[in-house]
Amino acid sequence: MRIAMFSSKPYDIESFQLANTAGHEIIFLEPKLTPATVPLAGDCDAVCAFVNDDLGATVLEGLVEQGVRLIALRSAGFNHVDLATARRLGLSVVRVPGYSPHAVAEHAVGLILALNRNIHRAYNRVREHNFALTGLLGFDLHGRTVGVIGTGQIGTEFAKIMLGFGCRVVASDPYPNDTCRSVGVEYLHRHDLFEQSDIVALHCPLTSETYHIIDAAAIERMREGVMIVNTSRGALVDASAVIDGLKRGRIGHLGLDVYEEEADLFFEDLSDRVVHDDVFARLITFPNVLITGHQAFFTIEALTRIAETTIANVSAFERGEGELHLVTDSGR
Ligand code: NAI
Repeated sequence: MRIAMFSSKPYDIESFQLANTAGHEIIFLEPKLTPATVPLAGDCDAVCAFVNDDLGATVLEGLVEQGVRLIALRSAGFNHVDLATARRLGLSVVRVPGYSPHAVAEHAVGLILALNRNIHRAYNRVREHNFALTGLLGFDLHGRTVGVIGTGQIGTEFAKIMLGFGCRVVASDPYPNDTCRSVGVEYLHRHDLFEQSDIVALHCPLTSETYHIIDAAAIERMREGVMIVNTSRGALVDASAVIDGLKRGRIGHLGLDVYEEEADLFFEDLSDRVVHDDVFARLITFPNVLITGHQAFFTIEALTRIAETTIANVSAFERGEGELHLVTDSGR
C-alpha cells in the first residue's frame, strides 16, 4: 500500500525502513497532519499519524475524498481521532496498543525519582561547583502510598515497580485487573485514592470522563505536598489548577511528560523562539516541576514495536483480513 506518514522524524524513518519488509511504499512527510497538509496524502491508501496530528472531521473528510481508506496510528492513545466521523465515512482506524508498557512506566518512575531527590537541580548545581545540599531534601519512597489512576498495561507495570520500592500501591479503575490484585494493589474509589496517596500517577486514557480528572476539587482532596505525575495525556490535568496548587504548596512536586497544549510545542526545537503559551511558561518556572516533551515512549524497543505493528496492521488491512488492533468507540 502507499502510506503517507505525517510528522516523520529521522528516528521514525529509520525504524519504519527497517520494519517495512512487506514492501509498502511509505512517503515520509515532515509536516504535521492538519487541514492544510491533507493534499500531501494524495494518491495514498493509508495515512500513518502520530499523537499531535489533527484527525478531526475536516481532515478525515479531506483524506477520504482523496482515496484514503485506512488511518494507521503509530500510538496507543487515540483520543485525537474523531471516531464518529471515521465510522460515518467508512474509514478504518488501527493503532499500536501496548508497544512497550515498560517504556512509559519506567519514565514515570524516572520523573518520580528525579523530582523527589532533586536530581534535575543537583545536576546543574554540581556543574557550577555548588555542592551544597540545602534545598535538595527528599523522602524515602519505601512505605509511601502511591495512587495509580488506570491499571491497564502501563499502570500495571508502574504499580509493580512501585511495589518493588516497598510502596503501598492503591488504584482506581472502572475495570480492576486480577494481575494487580494478585501482586497486592488495593482498589479504592478515586476520592479515597486522592486522600490517601503521597504520589498520584495518571495512566488512564483521555476520555470525556477523564478530561481534567486533576482539577481544583481533586487537588483539594489530596494530601498537602502531594506529588502528581502525568505521562498519559495532557488534558487529564487542568494546568491552571495545578499552577494554583503549586503556588499554595498544596502540590509538592509535579512531573509531566504531556501537556494539554503540547501540539504547538512538543517534538520541535523551538530554542530560538519566544514561547507564547503563558501557562506553560509559568509551569517551567517552578523548581519542583519537571517536564519532558512526550518522550516516555521513546525507547529502542518501543520504536521497533511501533513500526513492526503498524506495518502488520497495514498488511492485514491490505490482505482483507480485517483490521488488526482496530480502534472502536469504547477503546476496549
Ligand atoms: P490501557 O488501555 O492498557 O489501560 C488504560 C486503563 O485505564 C484501563 O485499565 C482502563 O480501564 C482505565 N481507565 C479508563 N477510564 C478510566 C477512569 N475514568 N479512571 C481510571 N481508569 C480508567 O492503556 P495503556 O497502554 O496502559 O496506556 C495508558 C495511556 O498512556 C494511553 O491512553 C496513552 O494516553 C498514554 N500513553 C502515553 C505515552 C507517552 O509517551 N507519554 C505512550 C503510550 C501511552
